[in-house]
Amino acid sequence: MSINEIPIWAADAAAAILQTVLKKDPFTFHHCCRVGLAARQLGKAMNLPEFELAILEYSGLFHDIGKIGLSDSILLKPGRLDENEHAIMKNHAEMSIQIIRPLTKHAFFRFLVPGIRYHHERFDGKGYPIGLMGEKIPLIARAVAVVDSVDAMMNTRPYRQALNWDYVQKELIDYSGTQFDPNLVRIYLDAAKNGFFEKEALKDDVVIQHILRAA
Ligand SMILES: [Fe+2]
Repeated sequence: MSINEIPIWAADAAAAILQTVLKKDPFTFHHCCRVGLAARQLGKAMNLPEFELAILEYSGLFHDIGKIGLSDSILLKPGRLDENEHAIMKNHAEMSIQIIRPLTKHAFFRFLVPGIRYHHERFDGKGYPIGLMGEKIPLIARAVAVVDSVDAMMNTRPYRQALNWDYVQKELIDYSGTQFDPNLVRIYLDAAKNGFFEKEALKDDVVIQHILRAA
């Protein structure tokens, strides 16, 4: 098997893992599915090859699965987290990696680790877990960070209503170069303006269809 091969059972493994997330927290399940899809689409707008698109998609699918390791009092808290709770919450990316660790003996799953581990890094180096800066943050993680934030803003949370597209667009521009990779913000907004994401939606999304069918 070449290093650039996606195991034929990868979608089944993803569906099984995501089932666990669904049982614990449907919001996180749907968020992971949406982010997986959006990450693939952003990758297409970046003109990445198919293998990288798959890495983006699976990295998005798995980025937050570690949240099932959080207590319900934190995961389902109907308000903003306090400092202590936030510190615990920050472990979720590493817990996501722990969940897929048995699969990382297969090359494809090893490629997913950086995008998951570093999806909360910020372009200005003020993110976590280690404060990587700029292009030191793996590209996959920078891409997941953009689509993760967009999805978080566009959906209702216990402590606020969903924000509208105009607001989201302004946030992306305002935090371009501080939170987000400015180049990716530009690609994302250009693609959105041209209706790229609507056109691409669910076109080739076999993995996510598979996961949703299993749900
Ligand atoms: Fe996250």
